[in-house]
Amino acid sequence: MQTTLPAPTVESAPAMTRPITLTVNGTPYQLNLAPWTTLLDALREYANLTGTKKGCDHGQCGACTVLVNGKRINACLTLAVMHDDHEITTIEGLATDGALHPVQKAFIDHDAFQCGYCTPGQICSAVGMINEGQVRTVADVRELMSGNLCRCGAYPHIVDAICEVMQLDASK
Ligand code: FES
Ligand code: FES
Repeated sequence: MQTTLPAPTVESAPAMTRPITLTVNGTPYQLNLAPWTTLLDALREYANLTGTKKGCDHGQCGACTVLVNGKRINACLTLAVMHDDHEITTIEGLATDGALHPVQKAFIDHDAFQCGYCTPGQICSAVGMINEGQVRTVADVRELMSGNLCRCGAYPHIVDAICEVMQLDASK
């Protein structure tokens, strides 16, 4: 005798997203994100701010560096939900009133990039490093920028650009 099994029931999945407001470059973005969404993915995939780059996606390259309340962080290593109400600045927000940030201008003047993929992270990191106020020498610049890798090897020009902004003699 053939028996008929009851149709399987599918329970509705619990809500997997939650509302969050990210303030990026002075603009509030109201997003619905899964709690495990990184700040990097929130910026690139949900706020459409693709200036911040994804390199390694695990804290090794610095391509994803942004500023949170003026401090530089790797956006791939932090969750977006941790930054509700924080002031986030990306490469898109560094220029003011149409004028490039001095670090952006110095990168252009010193030809401090080749492919440009690492450049947004390099620039945001340099701005954060300047905010930190720890640099005294060119060696400090090299050390404190060492978390930002450049596969094109533009390091000498990157250091030159930052030294110009910091009024350090890059030859020392
Ligand atoms: S993408 Fe974040 S450190 Fe490489
Ligand atoms: S300019 Fe190409 S990785 Fe830095």
